[in-house]
Amino acid sequence: MCGIVGYIGNSSAITPVIEGLEALEYRGYDSAGITTISDKKTLTIKQIGRVDSLKPAIDQDGDKTAKLAIGHTRWATHGVPSNTNAHPHQNTSGTIFVVHNGIIENYQTLRAMLKKDGYKFVSETDTEVIPNLIDYFLKAEKDFFSAFKLAIKELEGAYAIAAVYANDPDSIFVARLSSPLVIGVGESAHYVASDATAIMQHTKKVVYLNDYEVAVVKKAKVHIEDLRANINTSREAQELEHDLETAELGQYEHFMAKEIDEGPQTIQSASRGRLRLDGNIVKLGGLESVEAQLKYIDRIVIVACGTSYYAGLVGEYLIEEIAGIPVEVELASEFKYRHEPFSRSTALLAISQSGETADTIAALKKVEDYGVLRLGVVNAVGSTIARMTDAGVYCHAGPERSVASTKAFLAQVTVLAEIALYLSQGRSLLYKPVLKELLQLPDKLKTVLEQAEKIEALAKKYRHYRDFLYIGRGYAYPSALEGALKLKELSYIHAEAFAAGEMKHGPLALIDEHFPTFALIPDGDLLEKTLSNVQEIKARSGPVIAIATKGNKSVARLADDVIYIPPSLEQLQPLLMVPVMQLFAYYVTVHKQLDVDKPRNLAKSVTVE
Ligand code: G6P
Repeated sequence: MCGIVGYIGNSSAITPVIEGLEALEYRGYDSAGITTISDKKTLTIKQIGRVDSLKPAIDQDGDKTAKLAIGHTRWATHGVPSNTNAHPHQNTSGTIFVVHNGIIENYQTLRAMLKKDGYKFVSETDTEVIPNLIDYFLKAEKDFFSAFKLAIKELEGAYAIAAVYANDPDSIFVARLSSPLVIGVGESAHYVASDATAIMQHTKKVVYLNDYEVAVVKKAKVHIEDLRANINTSREAQELEHDLETAELGQYEHFMAKEIDEGPQTIQSASRGRLRLDGNIVKLGGLESVEAQLKYIDRIVIVACGTSYYAGLVGEYLIEEIAGIPVEVELASEFKYRHEPFSRSTALLAISQSGETADTIAALKKVEDYGVLRLGVVNAVGSTIARMTDAGVYCHAGPERSVASTKAFLAQVTVLAEIALYLSQGRSLLYKPVLKELLQLPDKLKTVLEQAEKIEALAKKYRHYRDFLYIGRGYAYPSALEGALKLKELSYIHAEAFAAGEMKHGPLALIDEHFPTFALIPDGDLLEKTLSNVQEIKARSGPVIAIATKGNKSVARLADDVIYIPPSLEQLQPLLMVPVMQLFAYYVTVHKQLDVDKPRNLAKSVTVE
């Protein structure tokens, strides 16, 4: 989704801002722009399309002497993708420039009020009210920061904002509410960004802005105020932990291929130092501070979106079976508007790769005053969700760049299995086998990924179908849901998943020779049941690709094509089956010549409702 980058320092500002915007490209966007200010000269260059297509105009006309710049990548919410709707936006007289992530919910009221006062609007965006509103207050205030604060107080919704003023080429003014904003501390320079990824090639020292905070960022200092408390706040910069190298493409053509390939080491990283076979120990340092509270938890509600939600569904099965604690998994977007009973012995567990998903943040905020324990399973270190939860377990999957989540799912499921073991306190019969199997999974997954060529051949064979069904039972059901999501979001083929037991209650009506099914039939208690479903599909001429366990003979007799996974515990089979479906969706998309890493209309980090 939208990205913000800003620079103020001793060097030319264009380069770090453009580099930062490029680093944010993975989030998904449709237009980009930059404003520079030097000695009261302002210049805005913005247009629809990729950051790359902005570069020729910047090379030709850009102000390379400017030491201050703000830039933006826009993902359209209000108004179509266009040059006019691209950020930065300016006030009517062209002295104030603003980039903004999020949604200003009361923008229509503000716009009408400002129009009456003579302000002119050129775009369809909600953002354009911000520079004009600052201008409105500046008439009476004279001091820009005071006007900026008054304007921010009028805004309702969610925002990360960076504003600059032609008469003050030494400052970037920033504000945040429910949308991330980070300030990077460099050598004689400061950076601002909506995601630390944008600035980590320049500095690893960062200060995260909190909700309702505003700041004036100058070359050598940062002044932060809390708007609600009306007080100045200050805090030490913290060090980012990300490893930059893992965010590079290297030998790969797409980030998705790289991230799928990183699966084995992802499971390893999520287990490192946490699982010890000698002594059968599961050590989750992140939960130790709340160990006493966890003893009283008799219900867990998991909230998440997208792929993280499906990982949550696997987590539900794991925690219930291994730890014996009832779990509900809710889509964060539904949870936040529901009126369900909630007792203090319930813990809320948020799962998020980015740690910045607006709905998941809103779900956590909803229970802020309930006094319940809020836990996180988060990948992005220091992200909003990581900071707003009481305790949690990091996924340690490293940066994930492809919009479609792959390795993060594996890390989330691994961590959820560890949490299930931890909560069971060693009492489950599954404790030792699951612990042991988790340590063996990286090698097993390697053998799955070695079948990439075979999966590519299947992808070529099936890529022309318009629809796809994914089915599974037990742990294979949430896996099927994730498999279907991968195919639809990347290849635009209609794909949906059902619990195999539901086939007779509707989906079977869809089946004919044009409607293939991806059937997950690994060895386990439910094998025969799913095989019967496949039989019913074959009886109606539906083509079937199956995932089965190596050594199984019965699946091959029925299915048209089979991919084998190594024998494993049912509880951990999702970690071997989902990568097969990730690769299938990847190759279908590559052979349909679509943009694998940036599917249309989607964003990596969904920071608006
Ligand atoms: C977006 C991404 C998905 C992701 C979902 C939840 O839709 O494209 O890949 O699963 O958001 O994001 P989160 O960062 O909270 O896991």
